[in-house]
Amino acid sequence: MEDFSHQPVMLTEVVSLLQPAAGKILLDGTAGGGGHAEALARGGARVVALDRDPAAVDAASARLRPFPGCVVLRRDYADALDVVASLGLDAVDGALLDLGVSSVQLDRPERGFSFRADGPLDMRMGPEGETARELIARLDERELSTLLRELGEEPFHGPIARSVKRADRMETTGDLAAAVERAVPRRAWPTRIHVATRTFQALRIAVNHELDSLDAFLRDLPALLRPRGRAAIISFHSLEDRRVKRRFEELRGRCSCPPRLPTCVCGARAGFRPLARKAVTAGEAERLGNPRARSAKLRAIEKLPEAA
Ligand SMILES: C[S@@+](CC[C@H](N)C(=O)[O-])C[C@H]1O[C@@H](n2cnc3c(N)ncnc32)[C@H](O)[C@@H]1O
Repeated sequence: MEDFSHQPVMLTEVVSLLQPAAGKILLDGTAGGGGHAEALARGGARVVALDRDPAAVDAASARLRPFPGCVVLRRDYADALDVVASLGLDAVDGALLDLGVSSVQLDRPERGFSFRADGPLDMRMGPEGETARELIARLDERELSTLLRELGEEPFHGPIARSVKRADRMETTGDLAAAVERAVPRRAWPTRIHVATRTFQALRIAVNHELDSLDAFLRDLPALLRPRGRAAIISFHSLEDRRVKRRFEELRGRCSCPPRLPTCVCGARAGFRPLARKAVTAGEAERLGNPRARSAKLRAIEKLPEAA
C-alpha cells in the first residue's frame, strides 16, 4: 500500500464541531489519508468515509481498520445520499468535506497535479474520465481562456491559452508550466504563488468536475442530515468558499430577494443555524507548520431539530 501521509487541516476544530460520540454516524466525503476520519472514529462515531481516489481509499481503509463499523468506499461525495441509503441509513449525524487535493496527490509527479515536478498531464483523482492533456486538446483557444478565467481567476487567461494551444508539445506538467511561464511577462509573476498555480487549479477543477460535486452535495444537505445533524466544509479557494457560504445562508433562511421587493417572494425559511458567524481559519501555529492550512476556510452549520 502507498504511504499516504497528509496532515489534516483544523483537526481540533473539526472534531469539536462534529462532536463524534458513540451512537453517531458521521460521513467523511473526502477521506484522503484518513486523518480526519480517524479522529472522528476515535471519538466513538461510526464513520462512513468516501474518496474517489483508489490510493486514498486504501490508505483510509488501513487507518479505519481498528474501528468496527467504519467503512471506506470509493465513491464521489456528490453521491453521498445514495451511499447512505445503500447502507440502509436514513441520514447521518454529521458530514465533513475537506476539499481539494491531498499533499500526497500533489507530491506524486505521476499523478500530474503539480508544476513542481515533471509528470504526465493527468490530474484525475480517479482512474475514469478525461485527463488534463485530453481536455486541453479538446478545447479551442477561446474555450481554454474562458476556463482559466472562470475556474482559475487567472488575469492572463488569454495569453496563457494562446501559449498552451500553440505549444509544440503539451504532454507533461513541465510542458504546461513552461507554456504559462512564456505567456506571462516576468514583471507580472505573482510573488506568493507560482505563476502556473491558477492555471493548474483551473484545469484540476475542470478535469474532476469539482464544483459540480460540491453543488450536488450542498443541494442534498437537508436530506443527508438528521435533525441536529452538522455539516463542516473546509475549502481552499474562493470559488468553493463562495458556494458554501451562499448555500449556508440560504439554508439558514436568509432572504435572497432583490432589495427593491416590498415583501419576500423567495420562500426563505430557516432550517439550519450557523455554528460560527464567520469562516473559521487555522491558528498561527498550524499555519506555520502546515502551509496548506494558510488558505483554508472552515464553515459549519447545524440542522434545526424541527426541520424536515
Ligand atoms: C484534502 S484531501 C482530504 C484529506 C483528509 N481529510 C485527511 O485527513 O487526510 C481531499 C480528498 O478528497 C478527495 N476528493 C476530492 N473530490 C472528491 C469527490 N468529489 N468525491 C470523493 N472524494 C473526493 C481527493 O481524492 C482527496 O483524497
